[in-house]
Amino acid sequence: MSFTTLPKIGMGTFRLKGNDAREAVKSALSLGYRHIDTAQMYENEAEVGDGITSSGIPRRDIFLTTKIWHDKLHASDLINSLHDSLARLKTDHVDLTLIHWPSPDDEVPMEEYLGALRDAQREGLTEHIGISNFTCAQMDRAKEILGDSPILTNQVEVHPFLANRKVVEHAQELGITVTGYMPLAVGKVMEDETLQRIASERNVTPAQIAIAWVASRGVVPIPSSTRPSHQKANLDALNIELTPEEIRSIDALDRGERIANPGFAPAWD
Ligand SMILES: NC(=O)c1ccc[n+]([C@@H]2O[C@H](COP(=O)([O-])OP(=O)(O)OC[C@H]3O[C@@H](n4cnc5c(N)ncnc54)[C@H](OP(=O)(O)O)[C@@H]3O)[C@@H](O)[C@H]2O)c1
Repeated sequence: MSFTTLPKIGMGTFRLKGNDAREAVKSALSLGYRHIDTAQMYENEAEVGDGITSSGIPRRDIFLTTKIWHDKLHASDLINSLHDSLARLKTDHVDLTLIHWPSPDDEVPMEEYLGALRDAQREGLTEHIGISNFTCAQMDRAKEILGDSPILTNQVEVHPFLANRKVVEHAQELGITVTGYMPLAVGKVMEDETLQRIASERNVTPAQIAIAWVASRGVVPIPSSTRPSHQKANLDALNIELTPEEIRSIDALDRGERIANPGFAPAWD
């Protein structure tokens, strides 16, 4: 199967190492996930590849994403590092390759690394290409550089405490699907009283309400979990249709709380 769009939910693998990563990927696939998100920086591509192989699900049925770390953005480094990723993942191509972070202070020109990413796509190493942690202005530049070559997604932090409205709306205007990372605010959503109230009225969990809210905005959530029960609940959350009133209450939780904010991050919108 060749995917033309991103599957509506994915399984994140940040922080999952060794056997936890293998088992989490295998279990997610057996529960019905068909979209797995990894990155060179997570140092688990080999285990993600093992989890896919041992799941028995054909590779062609799985949408697999990896990301190029910002120390591999020079053209030759980028392509070589993607070959290394494919070897670790035990596959001849990924479905999507993302630039994990824009080059800090434009140390490597965007033209160079996006050009190399498009070359990797032309060589068949990746079906689709995309970006992550790009601001509105950086999305505009990326669109200008890539011209007719579509940018499948901009993967950015989105959860009830960081709605990231400017970036989400601008990406959607540009025809770029937004992937929402840390949709559970790394577990913090479980402690929120508004999410708890809506969840208890519906007999579901605050995590499920957070995922339903992310999805209601046309954003693809990629929650991570080591537990099959949580993985299943997160998948089931796509069936929850929130009312306009519930959505308004969750919208009001936005407090610009950014969790992923390293020193080399761009000047956020
Ligand atoms: N592009 C980027 O720069 C970037 C940055 C950060 C993350 N990401 C991607 O986004 C993915 C998701 O982010 P994240 O893993 O940091 O955070 P997250 O998905 O918001 O939260 C993961 C945490 O939530 C818990 N959890 C999961 N499902 C739950 C449920 N149903 N009920 C209660 N708790 C639940 C997990 O614990 P259990 O294991 O116990 O379930 C884990 O501690 C990452 O794995 C990664 O693939 C990308």
